Amino acid sequence: MIRAGIKGTGLYIPPFVVTNEDLSKMVDTSDEWITSRTGIKERRILIEGDASDMGTEAALNVLRNSNVKAEEIDMIIVSTLTPDMFTPSCACIVQKNIGAVNASAFDINAACSGFLYALNIAESFIKSKKAKNILIVAVEVLSKIVNWEDRNTCVLFGDGAGAVMVSEESNKGIMSIYTKSYGDKGDSLTCKALGLNNPFVRHKQENIKSFVSMDGKEVFRFATSAMVEAIEKVVQDAELNISDISKVIPHQANYRIIEYASKKLGLDMDKFYINLYKYGNTSCASIPIALHEAVSEGAIKEGDNVVLVGFGGGLTCGATIIRW
Ligand code: ACO
Repeated sequence: MIRAGIKGTGLYIPPFVVTNEDLSKMVDTSDEWITSRTGIKERRILIEGDASDMGTEAALNVLRNSNVKAEEIDMIIVSTLTPDMFTPSCACIVQKNIGAVNASAFDINAACSGFLYALNIAESFIKSKKAKNILIVAVEVLSKIVNWEDRNTCVLFGDGAGAVMVSEESNKGIMSIYTKSYGDKGDSLTCKALGLNNPFVRHKQENIKSFVSMDGKEVFRFATSAMVEAIEKVVQDAELNISDISKVIPHQANYRIIEYASKKLGLDMDKFYINLYKYGNTSCASIPIALHEAVSEGAIKEGDNVVLVGFGGGLTCGATIIRW
């Protein structure tokens, strides 16, 4: 049976660190508040460059780790809500930068769940034999769309890029994958697109502020239930039990959300890989970044059943279970 498996992982983390202490000098907050409510201690900010620059570095990292040549890539999917520009897509810029001359390249946006949506697309192309090697890059420069004067949101987010190579496998790989959207709940997490005021219709022009706006409590409620539901769904679809899970790589938004899911599922916290304390919430990049670090540290071994699970703006959610 043909499955889609992850042949290699990679990341790019910008070097500039912003600690909770630094933020407490910018807005009315404290290390104690941020740590106790979220688990985040620091985050990284991209000082110079764009999403495609980080995406390119993460892609080159994957090429080195997966033994696939750039010319052997059939498709590049970039997940981002902070692309460099409307066109060309971030994926086409990454394609040019790495020399993946045989690939078709496009962007998708499913906010923080974007990596799982990209993986779902990639799995379909691999299983239907329309592609052999698919590069997924998930990258965000959230610092561009965060209001650094709003303590409700600016303490939560960070920048970064994660990437994977998805290729054909037989005895391992994705056993089940699931994505779902709740457009009717979209108002609880929004960011207006820049420059979309129609200059032709002058009387309708308004001063657009393009910042993330969030109803934290509503998103928290959604995240806790969506995470649990998505994990139960993929485990059931793979004809496994919760106790068969070796490791969970959750979207790294908030320690308390992960703790809630752990209790609800009856799955020990040590099964959850967590690195949000050093990067904050990097939106769709958080799962592949955490996956790369977990693999590099030996926290994931051959034969493990690894769950990836995420939720985010849209609202959206998704999960997958992968035999490693
Ligand atoms: N420092 C100090 N005080 C703050 C801060 C801050 N940085 N931010 C908010 N507050 C204040 C608020 O003004 C409010 O004050 P008030 O009660 O006087 O109005 C109070 O703290 C709110 O405190 P709590 O009710 O204890 O906050 P809560 O427990 O809801 O935690 C949080 C807030 C961390 C935002 C939580 O709701 C959360 O994590 N929600 C989910 C957010 C999330 O994960 N978003 C991303 C998911 S989707 C994606 O990844 C894009």
